[in-house]
Amino acid sequence: MKALVTGAAGFIGSTLSRRLLDEGYDVLGIDSLTDYYDVALKQSNLAQLENERFQFVHGDLNFIDPDAAIADVDVIFHQAGQPGVRRSWGDNFSHYLQSNISATQRLLEAAKRSERLTRFVYASSSSVYGDAERYPTLESDVPRPRSPYGVSKLAAEHLCVLYAHSFGVPAVALRYFTVFGPRQRPDMAFTRFIRAAIADEDIIVYGDGRQIRDFTYVDDIVNANLRAATSDTLVGGTVLNVAGGTNVSVNDVLDVLSRLLGRSVRVRRQSAVAGDIFRTGGSTDAIKAVLGWEPQTTLEEGLSRQLDWAARTLV
Ligand code: NAD
Ligand code: UGA
Repeated sequence: MKALVTGAAGFIGSTLSRRLLDEGYDVLGIDSLTDYYDVALKQSNLAQLENERFQFVHGDLNFIDPDAAIADVDVIFHQAGQPGVRRSWGDNFSHYLQSNISATQRLLEAAKRSERLTRFVYASSSSVYGDAERYPTLESDVPRPRSPYGVSKLAAEHLCVLYAHSFGVPAVALRYFTVFGPRQRPDMAFTRFIRAAIADEDIIVYGDGRQIRDFTYVDDIVNANLRAATSDTLVGGTVLNVAGGTNVSVNDVLDVLSRLLGRSVRVRRQSAVAGDIFRTGGSTDAIKAVLGWEPQTTLEEGLSRQLDWAARTLV
């Protein structure tokens, strides 16, 4: 089996690629190494993928020849994208438009022409829900994104469903809920909290810290991708939540972090940021029924692993 992993140098794409290599897949990684965060981190993500079955193309999905890229590919894991909820306003939106919407449409057009492809897994986001109508939120609940990022992820998700229904592209969307673990992006909360704690600096909390997230450990996200890729029964056009079941506030996370560090952490509060939603919490009934997937890693276990990784690599 040959897999294409777009965004292979990123947090989730590199973790997924490593696992695919361990499972015996041939992996083609494509990444444009955007400078959204330190490119050296992406290079070190790639370094742990060195393997005779791993091939890397440094390229932008909007400019490479997508038909040539997927010619002998059985499964596409489309992880490439411009992430970040809070930075998606203003002029930055053009990156979201290009990397999340246009790039996905281009890849879907090539997928439409492929006679070999058995699955196209799209990395969607809990950000599509915005302030959801209920918790736990069902996939069928009306999505009402509250950030331009969420709008772009939802548009690309709609494209996947559209290509599945109109042309039979075997595309499915997994809505990831705030992912954490080793190699987490430096702009995300846990990496920022850990960095500050290790340096004995103030941890910045946006708002009062009572906002709730359904944090999901990265290996659980990878497991969901593998199940989605290999399931015989999953129908093109399906959309599934991948939610860790943690349902904790940012303040709760800081308590767990203090416990793991064996000392209290210093916190400085700043105003809430536009685009941030108050709560995410996804129902996992559908993914359990369809793929037999359930989260395996608790917040404490996962945060402890992220802390070990950060202590080895970040300082
Ligand atoms: P990341 O930034 O670490 O990885 C994304 C990678 O995509 C980067 O290495 C970047 O260089 C690459 N990329 C961006 N635009 C590209 C383009 N046009 N062509 C080729 N490569 C391009 O982010 P991540 O946290 O690993 O997120 C991976 C995917 O999962 C994204 O699509 C994101 O929207 C989605 N997602 C992430 C989370 C999360 O909590 N991290 C939650 C929900 C959804
Ligand atoms: C994350 C990812 O960054 C998005 O790419 C992804 O699509 C989204 O999850 C998702 O689930 O769809 P976010 O929930 O904002 O977005 O993740 P974090 O950056 O880890 O933030 C978690 C919470 O901590 C937010 O409420 C944020 O306001 C807060 N935070 C973050 C702080 O209080 N301080 C910080 O320094 C950083």
